[in-house]
Amino acid sequence: MQRKKCYTMTSSDELLIGYDYDAWYGYGDRIPVVTDASTRTNSQTLIAGMSGSGKSYLTNQYFARICLQGGDDSVCYFSDFKQDDTFAYLRDCPRYYPYDRTIEALEIVYNILHKRQSGEDKLRTPVTLIWDEYMANILALLGTEKKKAEAVMHKVSEILMLGRSLAVRLIIACQRPDATAFPTGSRLNFGVIIVIGAAIESVYSMLMPKELIEKVGNRQFGTGEGVVLLQGSGLRFIKVPVIRNEDKLKAICIDALTRG
Ligand SMILES: Nc1ncnc2c1ncn2[C@@H]1O[C@H](COP(=O)(O)OP(=O)(O)OP(=O)(O)O)[C@@H](O)[C@H]1O
Ligand SMILES: [Mg+2]
Repeated sequence: MQRKKCYTMTSSDELLIGYDYDAWYGYGDRIPVVTDASTRTNSQTLIAGMSGSGKSYLTNQYFARICLQGGDDSVCYFSDFKQDDTFAYLRDCPRYYPYDRTIEALEIVYNILHKRQSGEDKLRTPVTLIWDEYMANILALLGTEKKKAEAVMHKVSEILMLGRSLAVRLIIACQRPDATAFPTGSRLNFGVIIVIGAAIESVYSMLMPKELIEKVGNRQFGTGEGVVLLQGSGLRFIKVPVIRNEDKLKAICIDALTRG
């Protein structure tokens, strides 16, 4: 129970994304910015931002909170195209899929989605695929195996569109979420969009309407700071906290990719 407190909110369905940016810097207060991670709400998540903005750092702690929030029945898979140092501690886990194996994890999660949709699998326990450097992964595939890349993108689109009620979820991190890797408007199916680090106009305009971009004002986001868009309309500014107990976080994530 003690470890649960470190990374989650008190309500069982609420998932902490970060702390309110203005309160943090304005008066040193930690006001949580949360999303509903139950199947009532779309928690398909996109984390975007330039290199070094803190995507993997955020992904790591978001992943830990998802593991805790989902309870012992939840199952997580991790695709790490770049084999980032941040995730080196996961390399021996059975549900960790590096570089040329990332698509295996997608296939497994996609099959679960289909079995649930067809009624063959009646379970609705949370299934989450975390995929770091998704865009780079798709671009690499497009360069070598175009047909396979298209099939992969189609499966990603289907999970984004149908996953919520079936409790199958994607957490995707990438630098620039170009439409090339999200065909047929599938980018619109993310309930939680996080753009971390410097405000890059071209990235904002891919993901947010003009009137919301204007609300960002003159905020200068650094590493681990940025914008959250919840369900297409709720705009929040966040500060991603420093992980206080890294060993505990790692133990939670290792367990989530190993047990069962
Ligand atoms: N919220 C944060 N608080 C403190 N340090 C952070 C935070 N976020 C990131 N960092 C640090 O900033 C550096 C870059 O972070 P990270 O590797 O997560 O960036 P990235 O966006 O994933 O970069 P890349 O695109 O190159 O993979 C790391 O050294 C990390 O420890
Ligand atoms: Mg990274």
